[in-house]
Amino acid sequence: MSAWLQVRDLSVDFRVGGSARAPVMLRALRSVSFDVARGTVFGIVGESGCGKSTLARVLSGLTAPTAGAVSLEGVVLGAVRAPAQRRRIQMVFQDPGSSLNPAMTTRRMLQQLLRFHRIVPEERIEQRCRELMDQVRMPIEALDKKPGALSGGQRQRIAIARALALEPDILIADEPTAALDVSVQASVLNLLAKLIHDLGMTMVFISHDMAVVRRVCDHVAVMYLGRIVESGATEEVFLHPQHPYTNALMAAVPRLHPLPVSEYRMLKAEQPSPLADITGCAFRNRCPKAGASCATDNPALTGTNHRVACHYPRTHPPVGETAHIPGRSGDDI
Ligand SMILES: Nc1ncnc2c1ncn2[C@@H]1O[C@H](COP(=O)(O)OP(=O)(O)O)[C@@H](O)[C@H]1O
Ligand SMILES: [Mg+2]
Repeated sequence: MSAWLQVRDLSVDFRVGGSARAPVMLRALRSVSFDVARGTVFGIVGESGCGKSTLARVLSGLTAPTAGAVSLEGVVLGAVRAPAQRRRIQMVFQDPGSSLNPAMTTRRMLQQLLRFHRIVPEERIEQRCRELMDQVRMPIEALDKKPGALSGGQRQRIAIARALALEPDILIADEPTAALDVSVQASVLNLLAKLIHDLGMTMVFISHDMAVVRRVCDHVAVMYLGRIVESGATEEVFLHPQHPYTNALMAAVPRLHPLPVSEYRMLKAEQPSPLADITGCAFRNRCPKAGASCATDNPALTGTNHRVACHYPRTHPPVGETAHIPGRSGDDI
């Protein structure tokens, strides 16, 4: 059975300088592939600059890939998408302030979208606007407000309502709470978790917060310098992290993992420049486990369900011999 969303060998190069004949290129994505099944949430984690937002923009059709393809239900989506195709994948951005038109009330914005995409007949538009406010837990009066009259958390709820208005097949959330006050992050996250549950949304959820990803996502991919270095079912990756980078991310959040992970703390070193061609493994200069082959051979992402790109993956005791793991659903964030 083919996946609902299929991402194949996506690469994105940005020209960041040089001349037309000798351009200087920055490689933001390096052959990224993954599948997302319908009704599931696919998480993407990794440090700032690893290419998460670039990936989100390619999935949403806002950035054209240099190579590779995105397909939905077996149909390849073009780099330049027609409105009907664009509607199917909607994005919630990190900063709701810059993603909403400051001159428009919520009602006008939603009306325009519902009309343009003919989502509901004219006589149902007002009712649909009210339903959307209800779905994102906002009072009806918010329909009369412009973004400037709303708080950051409220603006993000309106941005979520805008995405839902188009009844997309997939929602891409790019660090949807990272720009919000800590006090409102949990409520926006709870709203997203509830929507995922109630609407059976298919979602790509991007975050640098491991605890949040564990709570929300069914599958997870860990990115480093434009590549996926590990992916699999969330609990499997969290309980049996194989890549030293994933282990180092876990070690930074000790309560996530009961096993000793200190030997996986990252070495102090700069990430390689995304401008350079990289020979060998891009993580090796920060990797506590790197060996000779890591300098010469870039490890391929191998495995079927749990995939890892590493010459020296961590091995784990057989299932059943691990200590008690705090439950995902019961954890607070
Ligand atoms: N439009 C652009 N032009 C040039 N470089 C870019 C552009 N967008 C992103 N980059 C670069 O691509 C890399 C990945 O960026 P980004 O996708 O924003 O990462 P993340 O969202 O994980 O922080 C970074 O090195 C960033 O500087
Ligand atoms: Mg980003």
